[in-house]
Formats: sequence, C-alpha cells, structure tokens
Amino acid sequence: MNKKPLAVIILAAGKGTRMKSDQPKVMHGLAGLPMINWLLRTVEGVSAQKIMVVCGPDMPDLEAAVSAHKNAEIVIQKERNGTGGAARIAMDALEKSHGGTFDGDILILLGDTPLIKAQTIQHLIDSKAEAGLSVLGMHCNNPTGYGRLITSKDQNLLKIVEEKDATAEEKSIQSVNTGAFCVDGTKLSSWLSQITNNNAQGEFYATDLPEIAASDGAQAKVAMTYDGSEVQGCNSRSDLATLENTLQNRLRKQVMDQGVTMIDPKTVYLSHDTEIASDVLIEPNVFFGPGVSVEQGVHIKAFCHFEGATLGKNITIGPFARLRPGTTLGDEVRIGNFVEVKNSTIGNRSKINHLGYVGDTEMAEDVNFSAGAITVNYDGFQKHKTHIGKDVMVGSNVNLVAPVSIDDGAFLAAGSTITEDVPADALSVERTRAEIRKGWAAQYRKMKARAKSKLKNK
Ligand code: UD1
Ligand code: MG
Repeated sequence: MNKKPLAVIILAAGKGTRMKSDQPKVMHGLAGLPMINWLLRTVEGVSAQKIMVVCGPDMPDLEAAVSAHKNAEIVIQKERNGTGGAARIAMDALEKSHGGTFDGDILILLGDTPLIKAQTIQHLIDSKAEAGLSVLGMHCNNPTGYGRLITSKDQNLLKIVEEKDATAEEKSIQSVNTGAFCVDGTKLSSWLSQITNNNAQGEFYATDLPEIAASDGAQAKVAMTYDGSEVQGCNSRSDLATLENTLQNRLRKQVMDQGVTMIDPKTVYLSHDTEIASDVLIEPNVFFGPGVSVEQGVHIKAFCHFEGATLGKNITIGPFARLRPGTTLGDEVRIGNFVEVKNSTIGNRSKINHLGYVGDTEMAEDVNFSAGAITVNYDGFQKHKTHIGKDVMVGSNVNLVAPVSIDDGAFLAAGSTITEDVPADALSVERTRAEIRKGWAAQYRKMKARAKSKLKNK
C-alpha cells in the first residue's frame, strides 16, 4: 500500500450547462445533500494533507458548501477553460499553500462524480507507478460522452481521446476515463503546463496528461473499477436521477444492514442524515426528508412523508401520515391515517389516529386526539401555541383555537370550537345546544309534496 503524503484536487468550477440550471452543477442534491459535499465526505476519509476545490467566480453557494469542510481550501477558476486549466490553477495554489513542490501523490477528482468510494480511490493510488500517473477507468456498454482510454498491448495508457475528438474506431472503445487521476506531485506542474487547447472544444483537457507523462518517459497506468455505478459522471438531469438511484440503493442497504426491514426497499427514499434504529418495519412508499431519526421497534405503514422529525420507540404511524419539521413523537405514540403534525411534541402513548392536524402544540402523555380534531394555530398573521395536558380526551371534530391551554384530564366535547382555556378534569362544550323539534320533518315532507302536486296540476 502506498504511504506517500496525499493532496486532493477537486474540479468543480464548471457551470454544468447541460443541466440547464441556475445552480452550479455540483450543488445539485443527492439524498438532500449537494454532490460536492458527498465527494468531500469521502475525501475526508482518505487522510489527505491538502484538499483544494476549484470553484467558479460567481458561486457563493458552492463556496459556502465547501467551507463546511474545515480542511478544504477554495481556489477560484476565473476563466472556465477546461479541466486541464482548472487542475493547473489548483496545482499552483497547492504549491503556494504547501510552500513548494508537493513530494507525494496528487489525486484529481471531478466534482460531478461524487459517489466514488474510498476503497476505489485507494485502488487508484496503489496502481500508480513510482513517478508516474494512474487513471481510474471503467467499462461502459454505452461510452458516449466519456473520454476513451487508448492502451498499448502491455496495458500501458498511451492517451485519452475525448468524444468530440475521437475517430469512429476510437469511439467504439468501451474502456473509458472516469476522470479520477493519481499523479506524482513532483511532476504534475510541469505536465500541466504542457497542455494546449488544440482540440475540438478549444479547451485545456486534463485528459492530455497521460500522453504528456508517457512522452516524458513516465509510466501511465489504468486502474479499472468494476462497479461503474459509483464513478458515473453527472452531466444532465437524467444522469442526476441515475446517481440518485445508485445512492438510494447504497443508503437502503446500509439501513437494512443495521437491522431495519423494508418490505419494498426501492420505494423507500432516504436522506443523507436519516437515522433508523434496528427492528423498525417500513412498509412501501415512504419518504424520509432531512433531519429524521427513528428509534427501535417503530412500524411505519405505507405512504408516509417525514421531514425534521424524531420518532420515539415502538410507535405505529400511517398509512398516509405526514410529519413536518420540529416534530417529536414520544414512545408508543400512535399516529393514524391522514394525520399531519408540525412543530409539536407528542407525549408517550398519545393517540392521533385519524384525520387530524396538530401544529405548534405541546401534547403530554396519554392524550386521545379523536378523528377530525385540529389545532387552529394561525390567525392569518401569527402562529400560536396549544398546550394539552396528560390524559386529556379531545373529542371528534374539535377545533382548538390557539393560544389555548387544556389542563390534565379535561374532556373536550365532540364538535366544540375551544376558544377558552380548560381547567384540569373539566368538561368544555363550545357548540350550540341541541334543539329537537318533534314531527318537524314529517310536516316538512307533507308541505313539499303538496307544493309539487299543485305544480303538476297547473
Ligand atoms: C470529463 C473528461 C472525460 C471523462 C468524464 C468523466 C475532460 C476533458 N473530459 O468529461 O474524459 O470521461 O469527465 O465523467 O476532462 N470543470 C472545471 N473547470 C472547467 C471545466 C470543468 O472545474 O473549466 C469541472 C466541472 O465542474 C466538472 C468536472 O470538471 O465537475 C468535469 O467537467 P465536465 O465538463 O463535466 O467534463 P465531461 O465532459 O464530463
Ligand atoms: Mg462531467
């Protein structure tokens, strides 16, 4: 195993024209986290001395995303003149920051290839010959768009030919460049300075490096990866969807390996930070947005949508439940169908079983919140809080007009619109009294029948 010092250059300044977006390409999310952050997470695991990220001059969001990683340094590429141009300014900045030649390995990675795994990076590093260069290659049944690897009979890499510069014969080659390079740090600057823009796109290609290295007498090698999915590049929205699919499969496997059952994994969508404990059962079609954690023994029924929510132990939730940010559910809570909870804490064993809305609420333990009951938390200008004590019985179709406080053990009569605080163990009825008019319906029907026959006889 190669133990030389390591520096990493990540190329991320491209505008991503083919994405047809105002956002820089590498800011597009996968499982809710920008591509660049996925790549930086992996790179942080390979113990590099320096991490240089090349960004465009007008990308404040990208700079902020990179700054979240303490060890990453930002280099601005003013003129987007190709991957070779980007690598060159990064290398200049690296040597400046390092205080001279970097006597180690330099890993060049593409920001739009964010799912590369740490062990694949290690394989690339290990494949590099002393004072040489290695390129991570993959086999592609449809190589369109990728640089083709031209190798000699003894498997040395002679050059990389870009799609737009390739002859028909070269285009039929299915071994392609993934964009990841490992290069000797003492040679890279000199090789980069020899790249020209004499090609179909008028750009400085990093892919000219193998040919330049070979002409300098250095060995250029190919390290093949056999899992092409982790090194697929993202140039379009359909590539983005392919990468999302790859990542979701990876996340689902991790979760299942930790003891979670998914009846139909491909229909469950996870976020980069989803935490699910063991013995959780997830039925089909469930979406986890960011900031969700689920404790042991929870049963999530089909068609639920969660964001920013904490679920305690042994809860049963759904089908068709929605948890919005700021929600904390205690142990053994029951949330049934068509229930939405937002910015609320629900105490242990409380039940909101059917057709409800609970927002900006503190609900204690053992509350029964019956069918159709809702909190009225918004007056058109401000949000207000509802407090519900323990053992409260909220009847069906109750409106709790916030701010309002219901003390422990109180009963709220079905159909009431509760506008005043209710003391402990009291009954609150806020609805019009029943009025029974005996025989009224029969008389009404007779009157209507007479009117109808008069009209017929006219
Ligand atoms: C590149 C490779 C191609 C390889 C493919 C793998 C070159 C010339 N081509 O093509 O051989 O098969 O990746 O996915 O390298 N970038 C900059 N500054 C620039 C231009 C690009 O930082 O001036 C960054 C982009 O943000 C992107 C990465 O470099 O993250 C690759 O650029 P992209 O335009 O996507 O190259 P490809 O056409 O995919
Ligand atoms: Mg690309």
